[in-house]
Amino acid sequence: MDQVFVINPKGGCGKTTISTQIAGYYANQGKEVLLADHDAQKSSSDWIASRPSECAVIRCKATTPEQSFDAAGADIVVHDMPAAWTLKQVDEVIRDGDRLLIPVLSSPTDIKACLRFIMGLNREGVMDKHVSVGLIANKVRPNTRYFMVLQSFLKRLDLPMIGQLRDTQNYIRLMDRGLCLFDLPESKVQRDVDEWFLILNWLDLD
Ligand SMILES: Nc1ncnc2c1ncn2[C@@H]1O[C@H](COP(=O)(O)OP(=O)(O)O)[C@@H](O)[C@H]1O
Ligand SMILES: [Mg+2]
Repeated sequence: MDQVFVINPKGGCGKTTISTQIAGYYANQGKEVLLADHDAQKSSSDWIASRPSECAVIRCKATTPEQSFDAAGADIVVHDMPAAWTLKQVDEVIRDGDRLLIPVLSSPTDIKACLRFIMGLNREGVMDKHVSVGLIANKVRPNTRYFMVLQSFLKRLDLPMIGQLRDTQNYIRLMDRGLCLFDLPESKVQRDVDEWFLILNWLDLD
């Protein structure tokens, strides 16, 4: 069983959006996917509740980071993490080989919060586990000053920026309709699907 954790204490950076896209992609690949919704806001659970019945099935479990749950039968567990959690809560859950994805927005506040979060991960020993950590620049508006600031910040970290997702209403619509990009004909969302190739390649769970 593979595990992907989508983590960043900053609200609104794209954890649920990215978790649902990843869950939807692998479900469309025929994998048994369990979406673990750890956030009290239950946005992933709302997304699943609106998912049309003809779409690839995704199991969703509303839970908390420290609560154990039955993942039997799942090929992939995608953890949509809450804003607040401590290492103690997930220490037993994060295992060698897991993927940790950190979405980050290009604003000074988000960059500072992200840096503090990564320092915390380091301090708590998460980086000492054999996990793969990747950053995703989200809601990107290329050619803005703050996107360039984010790029130069990420270059200085010893962590890969594994992809970037543009700022588009598509994600807002998909969230509302219980869909992901990979449920739609590729030609309709080609630009966004193209951005996902790098991220999915890095995850390498096919
Ligand atoms: N790339 C994007 N382009 C436009 N809107 C986005 C994008 N990513 C996320 N959003 C929107 O931003 C809001 C916050 O995203 P969400 O995934 O809920 O963040 P989090 O789970 O980290 O709080 C949602 O309304 C979502 O639809
Ligand atoms: Mg969320």
